[in-house]
Amino acid sequence: MEDTTRTILMVDDEENILSSLQRLLRRENYNVITNASPEKALEILKHEPVSLIISDQRMPEMDGTEFLEKARQIQPEAIRIILTGYADISAAMAAINQGQVYRFITKPWNDLDLKANIKQAIDFYHLRKENQRLFELTVQQNTELKELNENLERKVEERTQEIARLYKELQSSYFKTIRIFMDLMQMYDPALGGHAKRVAVLSRLLAEKCELQGEELDVVEAAGSLHDIGLIGIPREIIRKKGSGRTAAEEALYRQHPALGYAILNSVPKLDQVSILVKSHHEWFDGAGYPDRLKKEEIPLGARIIAVADVYDHLSVRRDISREDVLHRLHKLAGAELDPSVVSAAIEVFSAIKTADRAEVAVTLADLRPDMVLARELKTHTGRLLMPKDAVLKEAYLEKIKRFHEIDPIVGWIYVYR
Ligand SMILES: [Fe+2]
Ligand SMILES: [Fe+2]
Repeated sequence: MEDTTRTILMVDDEENILSSLQRLLRRENYNVITNASPEKALEILKHEPVSLIISDQRMPEMDGTEFLEKARQIQPEAIRIILTGYADISAAMAAINQGQVYRFITKPWNDLDLKANIKQAIDFYHLRKENQRLFELTVQQNTELKELNENLERKVEERTQEIARLYKELQSSYFKTIRIFMDLMQMYDPALGGHAKRVAVLSRLLAEKCELQGEELDVVEAAGSLHDIGLIGIPREIIRKKGSGRTAAEEALYRQHPALGYAILNSVPKLDQVSILVKSHHEWFDGAGYPDRLKKEEIPLGARIIAVADVYDHLSVRRDISREDVLHRLHKLAGAELDPSVVSAAIEVFSAIKTADRAEVAVTLADLRPDMVLARELKTHTGRLLMPKDAVLKEAYLEKIKRFHEIDPIVGWIYVYR
């Protein structure tokens, strides 16, 4: 609050000087207190706040500079003026220089000058008080602002953690749903379950090679896991027969599995994108596939990727085909059944999946280094297949494996070739 104090304390041993000063200021809006004794004046200062102290220099009890110094110790904020005769100017100057006194006024004074000096001194007192008040206000507001910022930061941090928790929950329910469907396939036909897991991993590797990013990679991987989910609606005997061994009616039934898979997954929250890829995984690049006879870029890239991984896996599990032949056959299908650009990417990626006959060694996650080759499948605690056997561990995969480990831990040893 603004300080409106306008009290002046005047000290002079000569009563007539005090009277004339009082008379001078009678019409001014000041509260004037006078006292002829410096000692008594000091007592008054102990309980009466004043804005200005005017003191005579030459007094019998103590001189003015000494009195004002003592007054300063009681009320440091009050402005101090000394009244002095010409003979004592040097003492008054010294007091000013030491900062004890605001200014001095010589006796006899000019009334107008004295009034102007008193007004200035009172104004100076209020200005200084106001500055002090504003300074304290700024300090206080800065402190409040700092607290506000800290609270805000804490709230943002709390919200971020909450969002991260919800996201993790959502992610885990997403993975759980996929896991349930994969279990269903595994129970229905173990060979189908194994195929699904391998195609998921191969599809992701291929999708990375085709420079898909972020969530697109997850969608392709999930669609790779679930691409044949529709087969759980087809009798096992028909599934196990090779294409040429099925009757026309059986083949027609078998060919319904992409659309069946689409129907199963499309109604599941967050799996709508996955369902679209599942529906198109048997479309051919040249338009001769099913169910919609899509061709080239009409087929979603994710589905073209899964198609290559699917064919690769079917060929790889056959004992009658050498590894080189698998890649050769893949190459021959480019442009007809398969997308040539995805096949080129696949030949590069799958060539790096080495078959090794070296002895295996058990290591921990922390021991894994780039270019190590997995001697066994790498799975998480819940059975999620992260990398197939014989995969070469690239630095980027190691990072991903560590991230998966935080959500779905890898328990026990990891087997790599020596
Ligand atoms: Fe299929
Ligand atoms: Fe398949």
